[in-house]
Amino acid sequence: MAAATPLRRPTRVALRPALPGDAPLLARWRAEPSVGRYQPLQDASVADLRADLARQRPEEIFRGRGDRFQWIVAADGEPVGWITLAVTSWEHGLAEIGYALTTSAQGRGIQAQALEQLLAELFLETPLERIEARCAIDNLASQRVLDKVGFTREGTLRSYFLLGGRRVDNYLYAILRADFLPRR
Ligand SMILES: CC(C)(COP(=O)(O)OP(=O)(O)OC[C@H]1O[C@@H](n2cnc3c(N)ncnc32)[C@H](O)[C@@H]1OP(=O)(O)O)[C@@H](O)C(=O)NCCC(=O)NCCS
Repeated sequence: MAAATPLRRPTRVALRPALPGDAPLLARWRAEPSVGRYQPLQDASVADLRADLARQRPEEIFRGRGDRFQWIVAADGEPVGWITLAVTSWEHGLAEIGYALTTSAQGRGIQAQALEQLLAELFLETPLERIEARCAIDNLASQRVLDKVGFTREGTLRSYFLLGGRRVDNYLYAILRADFLPRR
């Protein structure tokens, strides 16, 4: 009789605000080839990353203030990636999200769970109305994550950024409060 395939326990995913002490971890993840494969990550030293995190005030988001926020994604208690949020207009409730997982955490369904949790918090507890995401047209895993979470692909951003010396088209995705909340 064939041996039964062991059942894999579902991964427990959680988020917490990123702290200045996370800078070395972020620097390490940013240097991984798979993390930068589809997105141009600006050169940033540990000191730059630490200073950026030290400027952030995570609680301000709930008061409709601040323009840059970052969270650490944890899987079964271990830090495995990040989500950033750049608020482009509080007046109009607009923000843009970005994310990445360390190589060993990719392909396990973690990012969709993390985004679901964050979107619930953002749409229930902040005045944000529309959250955008952009991704390279070759980044199929990221597109699938956005589809699963309920983003709509709204268009193509031609020749949007330079990656490895090549200009790359991106897709623009967005999710509205009105898309997300009725499904919960
Ligand atoms: C892209 C990324 C966020 C995806 O998150 P993830 O948790 O690893 O996502 P998963 O691989 O578990 O799942 C994504 C879905 O895409 C699918 N997928 C993965 N690679 C694929 C490919 N090459 N072609 C088609 N579908 C693919 C998976 O099958 C899965 O679909 P399913 O849930 O229907 O089975 C993550 O891999 C990552 O951080 N990559 C490096 C950084 C990055 O690209 N960030 C995003 C920049 S926009």
